[in-house]
Amino acid sequence: MKRALVIGGEGQVGWEMQRVLHPFMQLVVPSPGELDLAHPRAAGQAVLALAPDVILNCAAYTAVDRAEQEAALAQAINADAVHEMGRAAAALGVPIVHFSTDYVFPGDGRAPYREDDPVGPLSAYGHTKLAGELALAASGAAYWTFRTSWVYAARGRNFVKAIVARAQEAGSLRVVSDQRGSPTWARTLAEVIGGLLVVPLRGGRPLAEAVGATAGVYHLTSRGETSWYEFACFVVDQLAPRLNRPVTVTPIATHEFQTVAVRPAYSVLDTTRLRDTFGVALPHWQDAAHLCLADLPV
Ligand SMILES: NC(=O)c1ccc[n+]([C@@H]2O[C@H](COP(=O)([O-])OP(=O)(O)OC[C@H]3O[C@@H](n4cnc5c(N)ncnc54)[C@H](OP(=O)(O)O)[C@@H]3O)[C@@H](O)[C@H]2O)c1
Repeated sequence: MKRALVIGGEGQVGWEMQRVLHPFMQLVVPSPGELDLAHPRAAGQAVLALAPDVILNCAAYTAVDRAEQEAALAQAINADAVHEMGRAAAALGVPIVHFSTDYVFPGDGRAPYREDDPVGPLSAYGHTKLAGELALAASGAAYWTFRTSWVYAARGRNFVKAIVARAQEAGSLRVVSDQRGSPTWARTLAEVIGGLLVVPLRGGRPLAEAVGATAGVYHLTSRGETSWYEFACFVVDQLAPRLNRPVTVTPIATHEFQTVAVRPAYSVLDTTRLRDTFGVALPHWQDAAHLCLADLPV
């Protein structure tokens, strides 16, 4: 059985990646203590020593606001370590799968962003994620970088769980209505990427060849778009029978909810390249959220 190194296996995406891949591959899932991306050189050496058949980098510095104060640490984890892991992957001749974000875009567009549209991150987090994309592309590895957006899951820290907690505590929510994007269930990411890896695995095709033939950046999100406010309303409506009180959701403007980091106002991603290259269908965000919410312990 081929061995997959899943870095960040306890995160939202990493956890779902484990669920999807373990029938097909032997999984090696180091803890952040065992493989710490804050020390890029050592992380690269650890990858070399583990010598997996494929690397899935699901780890990242994802605290968007805190990154404004910890830009150097975010850069080490999100970019420098990605470069080292890319170099290790190239040296081993194995592919690497990586994730990036809609926050590489400035958000002043009105149509879904395509992969080659001009980037322009507004935040330190976005800058470090963009640096990671570029570092991986320059590393010489066979790679897929999947830019995704507004990730949530039944497990981990995310918007959906914050909304549910707030609804139960306070019964009223004020949610930003002038930022638009595509909520994406972590399991959707894992199922799509798992499917892409299983095809060559089943066919006996070397993974490095399969990834290398289609290497590059792809947008991978659910279909459709919404605002944080509409997403919160959807969550509250779906969970209404299970919530312990009536809940009101009030739309507010971004300037009424100050955050340390600036977010793009519009960050919907165009997924045509992914769908055309791999022939995958992506779920509408409401359908995916419906399935996830059914699993949410409330
Ligand atoms: N969440 C979103 O809305 C979103 C949107 C767009 C793109 N993305 C991208 O999608 C990918 C997965 O995100 P996610 O939401 O699954 O993130 P997550 O839930 O925050 O998980 C990140 C994982 O990385 C680990 N990690 C953090 N620092 C580390 C270090 N120094 N060394 C090793 N591991 C470390 C974390 O471990 P600890 O918990 O122990 O620190 C955690 O397991 C990331 O590349 C992210 O940038 C996420």
